[in-house]
Amino acid sequence: MEYILAPSILAADFKELGRQMKSTEDNGAGYLHFDVMDGMFVPSISFGMPVLASIQGVTDQVMDVHLMVQEPIRYIEAFKQAGADLVTIHLEACKDVRASIQKIRECGLKAGLSICPETPAEAVEPYLGEVDMILVMSVHPGFGGQKFIPESLDKIRCIRRMSKERGLALDIQVDGGIYLSNVREVLDAGANVIVAGSAVFGGDPGANTSDFMEILREYE
Ligand code: DX5
Ligand code: ZN
Repeated sequence: MEYILAPSILAADFKELGRQMKSTEDNGAGYLHFDVMDGMFVPSISFGMPVLASIQGVTDQVMDVHLMVQEPIRYIEAFKQAGADLVTIHLEACKDVRASIQKIRECGLKAGLSICPETPAEAVEPYLGEVDMILVMSVHPGFGGQKFIPESLDKIRCIRRMSKERGLALDIQVDGGIYLSNVREVLDAGANVIVAGSAVFGGDPGANTSDFMEILREYE
């Protein structure tokens, strides 16, 4: 299983976005986490397809698009066109989860399914065989810089156990409130894809990425 850092550009300095992306790539971050917020599913609004299209080719990182939007099925094709490699949708935001996952597949993208802190881990059980990644939100989606919700650890353990019981090589991504100080307990619980916004872009993104990658490499 690969251990991956996915810096969230929600916390980046958009005046320096290209340069900051490059420094995270140069220091080992394999994914770039792109937080799309619609002001409906979550209270805030972030950015969308034009920004994603504008950063195509800046790095070779996997464009890991986190759709915090109502009825994401409406936008999957557009994000594919804008350069997404992986699209994660929220179970709570879909009228038809299966159809939404299917749409991601039809677009030839990797598929992720995310659950909010208040959604039990068991809710993703019916979909484990249909996605590449489960995203466990360790904060209430909508903002960077929040505090990690410790109850997330049991959810990660539960999903890793369900994945193992089915012989699946599922990626488990965890997103929100992750710092160098608590990343090991998230990895110990069974996560292998770590999202970090403030912890990477607050300060020197290259040095912060390198510090995270040093810890992730202990688990390789
Ligand atoms: C929150 C987003 C997260 C957030 C992470 O809704 O999905 O990706 O940007 O930011 P930090 O790492 O600062 O909690
Ligand atoms: Zn996110």
